[in-house]
Amino acid sequence: MTDPLQRPLTLPNGSILRNRIAKSAMSEALGTPDNRPTSALYPLYRRWSEGGCGLLITGNVMIDRRALGEPNNVALEDDSDLAMFQAWAESATSAGNACWMQLNHPGKQAPKGLNQETVAPSAVGFGAELARFFDTPRALSEEEIWDLIARFGRAAALCQRAGFTGVQIHAAHGYLISQFLSARHNLRQDAWGGDAERRRRFVLEVYAAIRAAVGADFPIGIKLNSADFQKGGVSEEEASALMRSLDAAGIDLIEISGGTYEAPAMSTGISLSASSREREAYFLSFAEKVRHEVNVPLMVTGGFRTRQGMVAALNSAALDLIGVARPLAIEPDFPRRILAGEPPRQQTPSRISTGIGAIDRMALMEVAWYGRQLRRMGQGREPRPRESALTSLAMTLLESGWHTFRSRRVRA
Ligand SMILES: Cc1cc2nc3c(=O)[nH]c(=O)nc-3n(C[C@H](O)[C@H](O)[C@H](O)COP(=O)(O)O)c2cc1C
Repeated sequence: MTDPLQRPLTLPNGSILRNRIAKSAMSEALGTPDNRPTSALYPLYRRWSEGGCGLLITGNVMIDRRALGEPNNVALEDDSDLAMFQAWAESATSAGNACWMQLNHPGKQAPKGLNQETVAPSAVGFGAELARFFDTPRALSEEEIWDLIARFGRAAALCQRAGFTGVQIHAAHGYLISQFLSARHNLRQDAWGGDAERRRRFVLEVYAAIRAAVGADFPIGIKLNSADFQKGGVSEEEASALMRSLDAAGIDLIEISGGTYEAPAMSTGISLSASSREREAYFLSFAEKVRHEVNVPLMVTGGFRTRQGMVAALNSAALDLIGVARPLAIEPDFPRRILAGEPPRQQTPSRISTGIGAIDRMALMEVAWYGRQLRRMGQGREPRPRESALTSLAMTLLESGWHTFRSRRVRA
């Protein structure tokens, strides 16, 4: 087969993805107020399943309902909602694609007032801008760290029982695992911090717990930052050292993204050179650098919009799988059209702005705008790609109130 996008991808454990386009995680916030899945997830995922991706990755599912990243997150702690998760997995794989669940813990990136308290590797708060929205966390005890590791393992086993075909560990974008990796946020001087190797321990233990829970045949992926793009944060050298460790430990897929709430490169490419942005994919140059250091398949996410850009990236051999998020929120069959060589029907907006300075500075609009598109599809309706930010804001406030809007994440 000559089309590089249509070529199946065999993962290290032998499982096969049917093509090279993957939907990257987008938090749906379609859980109940007490964080159980709702049936709105089924039509949404059925559409995405029919949309042509080889792999769908769900929005982040929380491993601890005491630690949510936003209201209406889904949490997975025990088997009490197994039937709902099963129905979700069934609709998400109905067209024969793979669907992996993304597992996450927000650490200190949890808006004020959402959880009773916030925990993190160390009691390090945010800088002045974000301190308005996030509390200074309490440092985790050794016992709590082991409890969280065990929770990742339990959630993965439940996800496997429910019929999802893999899991992805969310270790990017400044959440708990990212916080452990970063010398800026992890000031511990025990077995979990002090140097890069000890800062890596948490994520490697999470991987080991999940592998022990799901067995050798179940795919485990991870989403990592190529760099945090902030002073004292994870550097590209540290990120590639971590990738080598995960490769040696047997991970099946590494997705490369970048940025944190404080420096949101994942959705803007803001800290990147003009040439990286021009090549569509924000993090392609990092993939090129690490490709020869690891054997594990690489997925790169952030900025891919055209067939031409995707084919060029695959032909460069720096990566194996194209990750796409926002286009799928406004055009659920975007992959099918790209695979068929047809141009997308919709242009993904380059910036969602209300024109109201205070609201735009809070950078809440983008998540709210895209989130509303997902909710519409969850109601069996069409997305509204041309909806103005102001209308979207008004509708979001009407539907869920100011408190919910304000306590949604500052960035994805
Ligand atoms: C509404 C929204 C929600 C998101 N939620 C998540 C998430 O739960 N987990 C995650 O790893 N990334 C999340 N992201 C980031 C995307 O996976 C992706 O990295 C980013 O949007 C860049 O890719 P794109 O340019 O194709 O959209 C989210 C993005 C958006 C727009």
